[in-house]
Amino acid sequence: MKYLTFALAKGRLAKHTLGLLEKIGIMCDEMKDDKTRKLIFTNEELGFRFFLSKATDVPTYVELGAADIGVVGRDTIIEEGRKLYEVLDLNLGKCRMCVAGPASAKKQLSDGSLIRVASKYPRIAKDYFYNCKHQTVEIIKLNGSVELAPVVGLAEVIVDIVETGSTLKENGLEVLEEICPLSARVVVNEVSMKMQHERITKLIHDLKKVVPE
Ligand code: PRP
Repeated sequence: MKYLTFALAKGRLAKHTLGLLEKIGIMCDEMKDDKTRKLIFTNEELGFRFFLSKATDVPTYVELGAADIGVVGRDTIIEEGRKLYEVLDLNLGKCRMCVAGPASAKKQLSDGSLIRVASKYPRIAKDYFYNCKHQTVEIIKLNGSVELAPVVGLAEVIVDIVETGSTLKENGLEVLEEICPLSARVVVNEVSMKMQHERITKLIHDLKKVVPE
C-alpha cells in the first residue's frame, strides 16, 4: 500500500490534529515524544506517514506532492497562494486577521492617507488595502512581534492575527478593521485527490464527525 503522507504545522495545532486523528483510529504514538529529534514518523500498519514542518512550508509540501495532505492555518494558506484543495475546516485555532493600531490611526484608514502597514502577511495586507479598500499603502514585511511596529514608529498600522486580543491591549493597540476569520484547514494535493480518492475522502468523512463545534 502506498503511504498517505501528512504535513502538519509544528506546535499546538499539530498536537490538536493528532488528537483528532486518534479519535478516528489513526495513531502515531512515536510523534508524541517531545524529546525526539526525528522529523518523520510512520504507521506501517495503516500506511500513514506524518511529518512536522514550519507552518509556512506546509502548502509547499502539499502543492508539490511531497505530502498528500496538510493541516495548516487559513492565514498561511491565503498568504502562500499555492495550488491545492482546501477540503475541511477543523474549527481549531480560531482567530481573526485584522488591521490593528493605535486608536489615533482610525482617521488615516478612512481618509485614504499613504500609510505604512507592517505585517508577516504582505500578500494578505496588499490584497486587503489595494483590492478591498482601494487605498495605496506601503507594506513592510516583518517576521514576528509585529505589534512592535506602531509602538516604535515603524508603521502606522499592522495586519496581523488577533486571537484573545491581549497582545494588542498590552501594547496600547486595538482592532481597527476586521479582514477575515481564520482557523485550521485540511488541504490536499490535487493529484493525490485523484489517485487516492477513496482513502482521502474516507479520511475527510471520518474527520468531519470528530471536528469540534
Ligand atoms: C500571534 C500574532 C499576535 C498574537 C495574537 O503571534 O501574530 O502577535 O499571536 O494573539 P492574542 O490576540 O491572543 O494576543 P505569535 O505568538 O504567533 O508570535 P509572533 O509574534 O512571532 O507572530
